[in-house]
Amino acid sequence: MIHDISGDNDHSQTRFRLQSEKAYALSRVIDAHQVNLRAISAAVENLLKYTGFEKRARQNCFDYRLERNDVYLPDLPAAFDGYTILHLSDLHADGLVDEGDGIMRIVETLPCDLAVLTGDFSFDGAGDHYELSLDALAPIVRTISAHDGIFGILGNHDLLEMLPALERMGVQMLLNDAARLRRGTAEIVLAGVDDPHYYKCHDLQKALYMVDSDQFVILLSHSPEIALEAASCGVDFYLCGHTHGGQICLPGGIPVFANTSCLRSYLSGSWNCGAMQGYTSRGTGFSLAAARLFCPPEITLHTLHSGSMPCEIYATTEEKSRRWFNITGHAVYA
Ligand SMILES: [Fe+2]
Repeated sequence: MIHDISGDNDHSQTRFRLQSEKAYALSRVIDAHQVNLRAISAAVENLLKYTGFEKRARQNCFDYRLERNDVYLPDLPAAFDGYTILHLSDLHADGLVDEGDGIMRIVETLPCDLAVLTGDFSFDGAGDHYELSLDALAPIVRTISAHDGIFGILGNHDLLEMLPALERMGVQMLLNDAARLRRGTAEIVLAGVDDPHYYKCHDLQKALYMVDSDQFVILLSHSPEIALEAASCGVDFYLCGHTHGGQICLPGGIPVFANTSCLRSYLSGSWNCGAMQGYTSRGTGFSLAAARLFCPPEITLHTLHSGSMPCEIYATTEEKSRRWFNITGHAVYA
């Protein structure tokens, strides 16, 4: 189904109004948030140039890591045990100077049950450049082989106008909406919300309208910023990106800056919020400056397991997270 974005519903009207306000603010340089981001970007580029890290940081943007995340979910129906989800996030596709070759070389080796794209397809966040990002994205999407299809959500760099083209490309967009995934008689729900970071047009209640209280739910959200709300709504597994893991980090992957209001533990990798498990991708592309330090781009393959985490794996994971929190501090907001 191709979404109707003619603006005759409350969500479309709000999204279009906010997009116009953003474009206007950018053209008049009156959006403090965007001005700050651009100033930070220029400062980072200058810093890397004068410290001799510029070339290395640029090369790092294409040093893709395949992250395999085994996640143990007590309420996952047994029929979905071993279910694989390919997760790409923050492709910022028109910024990929290798035209996505590095990503496609890895993705074509990863047949999966489901593929999810958690927003920020565009490099530019406003204006008419979105068609460039769609052109750059199309070959990457064609490389994906996912039995149950490809699903996506919009990020803060994306415009509502992109929806019909994304859907014609074969990406089923979840705009505060949900779909059912079936294995035999077992069923789980895949829900997705609009961007909760900049546009704040997410509507979790609407996205979860079809969910029964005992159903297993995977939520796609561009950023981790609504994790608490999602956990309180009974979401089981939360997939997101947006943070780029900090993109420019200190040794050990410690972010210098994160454009997100959330716990540091939610900035990259796996985490939990109460009983809900979550995963934040470091992003597959990059934005602002073409630079990554101690924070390689990732392509993620999640494998879902029905049941509790085996004791020996739990012990290893706890040890790793203790080391991380000792470095970063647990309850610090980025
Ligand atoms: Fe984003």
